[in-house]
Amino acid sequence: MIVSQEQIRSMRIKLLKFVQLLCLILLLLTTTFTLPASANDTANGAQIFSVHCAGCHINGSNIIRRGKNLKKQALKKYGMDSIEAITAIVTNGKSNMSAYKDRLTEQEIQDVAAYVLEQAAKDWR
Ligand code: HEC
Repeated sequence: MIVSQEQIRSMRIKLLKFVQLLCLILLLLTTTFTLPASANDTANGAQIFSVHCAGCHINGSNIIRRGKNLKKQALKKYGMDSIEAITAIVTNGKSNMSAYKDRLTEQEIQDVAAYVLEQAAKDWR
């Protein structure tokens, strides 16, 4: 079988297009799957905290219910020392603390929860 220059050219183009497509798929996969799997962004959490939480929880305190502050000991005592528990209270609120599910995204709530835990571990210093 004789393969013409034209056939080789078209095969090369097809191969190139295939490789391009493969790269695009890889790029999409890495951006969609590595970003959400990455650690929570506590820098973003700090920003959110200063806007939405510091009013009542300045430096990890609680200006309304003093005992229910964000220090390690209190979080532990009230079973709030996990990402799950903090995201739950922030999402749904509790008594005098309002719910944030309409104001913050799930990711933002995760970030601020991670920030609270990180700060509690450092005793808010
Ligand atoms: C209007 C004041 C107010 C704001 C704003 C507020 N909270 Fe609260 N927060 C409270 C009160 C009051 C409680 C105690 C609720 C209860 O258990 O009765 C509380 C409890 C908590 C607790 C549990 C503490 C413990 O020791 O049991 C966490 C964690 C928490 N808040 C995080 C946050 C985060 C994060 C934000 C911002 C997204 C926020 N709060 C915004 C008033 C507020």
